[in-house]
Amino acid sequence: MTLQALLKKKDLTYLFLGGKGGVGKTIAASAISIKLAKHFDKVLVVSTDPAHSLSDCFDQDLSGGEAVRIDKVPGNLFGMELDAEKGMESFKELSSMGMPGAQDMGGMGMPGFGTTPNTTEGMPGGAPQMPGLDALGLGSDLLGDSIPPGSDEAFAFSKLLELIETNEYDLVVFDTAPTGHTLRFLSLPDYLDSFIGRMLKMRMRFGNLFKGIRNLFSGGAGEEGVEDNSMEMLETLKKTITKARIELADDTKTEFIPVTIPTMMALYETERLITSLKEYGIPVEHIIVNQLIPSSKDCPFCAKRFEIQEKTMLTLKQYFGEFIQTNVPMVPQEIRGIEQLTLLAEVLFK
Ligand SMILES: Nc1ncnc2c1ncn2[C@@H]1O[C@H](COP(=O)(O)OP(=O)(O)OP(=O)(O)O)[C@@H](O)[C@H]1O
Ligand SMILES: [Mg+2]
Ligand SMILES: [Zn+2]
Repeated sequence: MTLQALLKKKDLTYLFLGGKGGVGKTIAASAISIKLAKHFDKVLVVSTDPAHSLSDCFDQDLSGGEAVRIDKVPGNLFGMELDAEKGMESFKELSSMGMPGAQDMGGMGMPGFGTTPNTTEGMPGGAPQMPGLDALGLGSDLLGDSIPPGSDEAFAFSKLLELIETNEYDLVVFDTAPTGHTLRFLSLPDYLDSFIGRMLKMRMRFGNLFKGIRNLFSGGAGEEGVEDNSMEMLETLKKTITKARIELADDTKTEFIPVTIPTMMALYETERLITSLKEYGIPVEHIIVNQLIPSSKDCPFCAKRFEIQEKTMLTLKQYFGEFIQTNVPMVPQEIRGIEQLTLLAEVLFK
């Protein structure tokens, strides 16, 4: 079976390719985006893995954090490697969400903010300064038991929110980082939702106190008459995140395709990945099994490997029988460049 069913999903908007390191996420995301660029008006393939290889894969420079038209592909395909470091620079000043450890989150790099009308750059001027939460004993109340995500994931997620808000592409294909990072990325809507919920409650309950703290830390200077719109900002952000949660859980709009290889290690990881995706409510319908080696009569090494692979493939069927499985053979050459990727797309959509 193949990925044909994807072509019938006219509302498909977010397609994630994920899995263990080195299994073929990047080549699969690239090949699929080449194919889907013929079926969707405007497609973006974006790498959220800080160790990018999208440029190498397409043989075109896609670094720099801006979407670049991939010119040798028929259709309207754009590619982008997220530049978290560069993004972090512009978000440094935004680490004023009053979050302990906000620095680690790159100030949460919340988007939609940078693009909100009547704000020039980054967080609007009225961003709440709430330092010293720990000293007030409020920090743990705000953060609960959840673990703040890393800055790369926060930045990637902020980009996702931006893409959801701007709606510029008909389809966005995500070439994700290996499993752990990606799960942190996908846990963000839940994490932020509860975080912001708590912030809002805090602001309601301690509104004056917060104002007091803010004035205290800004020396009370120049703040007079500046309207505090932080509540609205939080409300807006909460709405965007809620929208993201709904869209990511909508199986007409979103699909996550795990990529795996026929080894037990990869299968275990794939199983953990799928379990987590289910927890987050992210739809999974297909699974790609890559790097299948052919049977061999003459080479004892390959014959043995093939024998082991056959067993693993049986286990795989037991584990993942509910998903549409697409097998991709290991080929002698390295898969890279448009020509090779197009051939891979043919295999994936046969
Ligand atoms: N079926 C295959 N046949 C031949 N080469 C393959 C095949 N699948 C993947 N490769 C090669 O394996 C390497 C890893 O592929 P790719 O970069 O897509 O994996 P990845 O999962 O994105 O890795 P990472 O976790 O490092 O991002 C590439 O050089 C690719 O060309
Ligand atoms: Mg990759
Ligand atoms: Zn051999």
